Amino acid sequence: MGVSRGGFSSRFGFIMAAAGSAVGLGNIWGFPTQTASNGGAAFVLVYLVLAFCLAYPAFMAELLIGRYGQANAVTSLQKMSHNLWQKRFAFMVGFGGIIAAALILSFYGILAGWMMSFAIDPVVRLFGFNDAAQWFVNQSLARNLIFTALFMLLTIFIIRRGVEDGIEKWSKRLMPMLIILLTVLIIYVMSLEGASEGLKAYLQPDLSRVFDADLLISALGQAFFSLSLGTSVMIIYGSYISKKENLVSLGAQVTLIDVSIAFLAGLLIIPAMYVAQAQGVAIFAEDGSLISGSNLVFTVLPSLFDGMGVMGLFVGFAFFVLMTIAALTSSISMLEGPVSYAVERHDMERTKATTYIGLGILVLSIIIVLNISFMLDLVAMISTQYGQPIIAMLCCVFVGWIWYRNSILAEIKQGNDDVENTLFWKIWPWYIKFVCPTAIAAVFIHSL
Ligand code: PFF
Repeated sequence: MGVSRGGFSSRFGFIMAAAGSAVGLGNIWGFPTQTASNGGAAFVLVYLVLAFCLAYPAFMAELLIGRYGQANAVTSLQKMSHNLWQKRFAFMVGFGGIIAAALILSFYGILAGWMMSFAIDPVVRLFGFNDAAQWFVNQSLARNLIFTALFMLLTIFIIRRGVEDGIEKWSKRLMPMLIILLTVLIIYVMSLEGASEGLKAYLQPDLSRVFDADLLISALGQAFFSLSLGTSVMIIYGSYISKKENLVSLGAQVTLIDVSIAFLAGLLIIPAMYVAQAQGVAIFAEDGSLISGSNLVFTVLPSLFDGMGVMGLFVGFAFFVLMTIAALTSSISMLEGPVSYAVERHDMERTKATTYIGLGILVLSIIIVLNISFMLDLVAMISTQYGQPIIAMLCCVFVGWIWYRNSILAEIKQGNDDVENTLFWKIWPWYIKFVCPTAIAAVFIHSL
């Protein structure tokens, strides 16, 4: 761990930070919504398989690149390159990931701002200001601008403090809170009428849908988004891990936490939808499709909370605080990618780099807010449906085809002496060389 550039002080710190990046709106909002729109348990099953068989190996590639390079994404990839064209290619891939992270943050900050404003609504109503509370839940330019800016300032505040004092400290505080809140909410929703029907829809797969092409594409996209792949984020987090740590097991633990939290979020949201249905809220159209689609958490859940009286105010508050926390531990990782690049490649001071880059991304968010009807989806699509899979695939190509096998082994062996004799080493190199790039490319081309 380079002392001057900072690093995670402990294994727990890294796990919380990387899981914090992975666990976000994608898990608690995206995954349940996709599950509900893609045949329930069939989607869950495919997601689990793809997360462990494709996303985890690609995740390991990014962590390894970073830990080997001990630097930002561009420098780390260039350290693995052997000639000029490979160095140029490394720049394209590393910088592409940094741009993807910045673009994702520019729209993610807007969505996170909505979560913050929905968390304030029940507080305002608790004090009896029901009319004023409407402002927090209705779409408006002023609300979007204010809350996007607030959320970005929070993100900047944490990243300015650096790796150990900012990312690690806050992830260690926020992630346990998130897990506790999620568990309490699940227990509560499970006790309500209609929840068991939701549980059935969530856990009994319709196997005929498992090979549905659209379902496969959505599940793979979701798995990559969830593990923050193709964004330079896991490269930079990998670079802050000590050489004494066993990367294979750290990566597996983070993947397991990420997948488990998505699964738990489904256990909250899908039953909550059926509880709302039992209370008379329309959830599905006649053809079985979701009525509210991606607005699920802003329409169905608040109407469920409304039906609970005063208790609903507390539950609603807890739910949207949970969302805000999840978003924050992800947004800090997105800002760290570009900041580490500016600090290490352009000798900028960390606090300055964080402020300038954070404010630059905020300006982009404001432009999106001003043109929300077409820009929000467009930026999300460019960065997550195109940017992430392409960059993630190129990282696999880098590790599989450009990096020498012996150097990879030497890097993995640090903190894991015995790795040569494990199943991981027998499968993974071959996997990262052939299976991951081909599968990602196939799904990507199909999605076009
Ligand atoms: N993994 C985050 C989520 O599931 O919400 C989103 C994310 C974080 C994407 C960091 C990209 C990134 F660089």
